[in-house]
Amino acid sequence: MNIDRCQILDLPKIHDPRGNLTFIESNNQIPFAIERVYYLYDVPGGSERGGHAHKELHQLIIAMSGSFDVVLDDGKEKKRVHLNRSYSGLYVCPMIWRELDNFSSGAVCMVLASNTYSEDDYYRDYAEFMRTRWGA
Ligand code: TYD
Repeated sequence: MNIDRCQILDLPKIHDPRGNLTFIESNNQIPFAIERVYYLYDVPGGSERGGHAHKELHQLIIAMSGSFDVVLDDGKEKKRVHLNRSYSGLYVCPMIWRELDNFSSGAVCMVLASNTYSEDDYYRDYAEFMRTRWGA
């Protein structure tokens, strides 16, 4: 489960003069079944979200409006991904530390997740995450 598995997925886009349309189906455009959807909005400028890793959860993160950055970290390598298109989703596999920042005004961050909410699935302590991943 390293950072190379976390990729931008180009979602289908049906162009239409009446307005474009994008769709996502479980285990089709994305490599997991969707069990939960949540979204971040009204994010004050300069705010940071995330700051945790998930043990088993798979996620797809989409900028439905505006833009923001996602910083991914597998404990060995880091990458910063800028999201600003509602037809591009960032797939994040389990055991990746993530932070979200650089939110534009009016940004809406939608997350599709492979399971319902469980606090037990979180690593919220970076040192504990590193120890579990790498025995550091
Ligand atoms: P958290 O996952 O830490 O937010 P973020 O990663 O966006 O910074 O969640 C913040 C709070 O919201 C935390 O108290 C748990 C709660 N929460 C739910 O109750 N259900 C959910 O689906 C999510 C994602 C969070």
